[in-house]
Amino acid sequence: MTLSIDYTNMLSPVLVGGILDVDWQEQQQRFPRVRKELVDQYELGRLGFLDLPANTALPQQVREAAAWAQGKFDDVVVLGIGGSALGPIALRTALRPSGWNMLDAKARGGWPRLHVLDNVDPVTIAALLDRLDLARSLFLVTSKSGGTAETMAQYLVVRGRLEQEQLAAREHLVFITDPEKGALRAIARAEGIRALDIPANVGGRFSVLTAVGLLPAALIGIDTDALLAGAGDMAQRCATDDLRKSPAAVFAVLQWLADERYGRPVHVMMPYSDPLRDFAAWYVQLWAESLGKGRGDQWVGPTPIAALGATDQHSQVQLFMEGPQDKTVTFIAVGEEASDVTIPALHGDIPELAYLGGHRLGELLDIERRATAGALARRGRPNMTITIDRVDPWHLGALVMMLEIATIHAGTLYGVNPLDQPGVELGKQFTYAMLGRADAEQARQEWNLLPRPNPDHVV
Ligand code: PA5
Repeated sequence: MTLSIDYTNMLSPVLVGGILDVDWQEQQQRFPRVRKELVDQYELGRLGFLDLPANTALPQQVREAAAWAQGKFDDVVVLGIGGSALGPIALRTALRPSGWNMLDAKARGGWPRLHVLDNVDPVTIAALLDRLDLARSLFLVTSKSGGTAETMAQYLVVRGRLEQEQLAAREHLVFITDPEKGALRAIARAEGIRALDIPANVGGRFSVLTAVGLLPAALIGIDTDALLAGAGDMAQRCATDDLRKSPAAVFAVLQWLADERYGRPVHVMMPYSDPLRDFAAWYVQLWAESLGKGRGDQWVGPTPIAALGATDQHSQVQLFMEGPQDKTVTFIAVGEEASDVTIPALHGDIPELAYLGGHRLGELLDIERRATAGALARRGRPNMTITIDRVDPWHLGALVMMLEIATIHAGTLYGVNPLDQPGVELGKQFTYAMLGRADAEQARQEWNLLPRPNPDHVV
């Protein structure tokens, strides 16, 4: 089982305009100090995600909840947003057969469907609730803070529906939240609703290997032990001061150098694998919310973009090839497809089709990735390729851990705190103000001072 990063196409002179050896060497010298910051933060108890692979109590909670739920439900619904939703979505897409929720029970091996409601759009929520058999549905209310407006609104809607149908909350709700704090924990205690812990020192976007990701995964038959094993192996592999031996360090340092020294703040993540499509979305949140921050009187941070090969070769790749020289592209290659399809040798007399015959679709996909990487390099566009043997729980766990550690290193390099998200606070406060939340008086005053739309500037 392996995960490798080929960063040949990031470096000069292979890549014209690539990262110079002098910069790369300098960062190798510096890296032990960058890693010391991670070690210091870990020792202060702030990086709880690093403890998850060795934690036995949390997986036990997950096993117990999964055993209780076994056979009772046809549909499991995650209510959550941001880090509470993107991880479960990524795991389902990567680790369950394509179109999971459309398969019948037999094809799903008796496991339930998994839906993730990661928004408050009534169109989606009403449509799902109207078609579920609530008596056979389980809702995982997932919120680290236990008070996020969107998730609480979803919870209230679902709870209202359960009450309408006279279904006991305790039989249809599980909370996943902070062990001590927040409204969900208080409700769980008061009503005896099953509640699983997100450790206090694991924030939303770092929480996929807690019950946030593990419980939904376990409920649909994903091997969660293998996820944690892959993450643990990667954490060990990255526990080195040798920059070139740590995939997380290589990723973080190259991206930061590309941004800060070579004017490339846009970081594209482009798996050539449909199962990893939502993993790229998970990465976007991790990289964006962790690193886009104020630093003193500056605003810093990369802009991550999710793309999918080969689909986006016909959408975004034109921009990556010839648009502004402000991007890096990270491809994810998969060594072995779960299944492959041979292209029949038909229309041998039509050149545009004949060359495809006898090749496999997986082969075509991989060749297109290599062609795109080569073409980008040829045009002086830096790119690197993460290769995993196959899309399975071990490799997913390893990828998750690699990017989480990379995010901490990148936080040190950018000089920002990767664990907070102060930039989302003001919008939340304005929302509270407009909805009339009692403790939002200050935000209400600030909101009232904002300029109103100028009719001259509305067309
Ligand atoms: O990464 C984060 O911390 C955020 O994206 C949160 O996951 C998101 O805001 C939801 O918060 P909570 O889990 O507290 O409901």
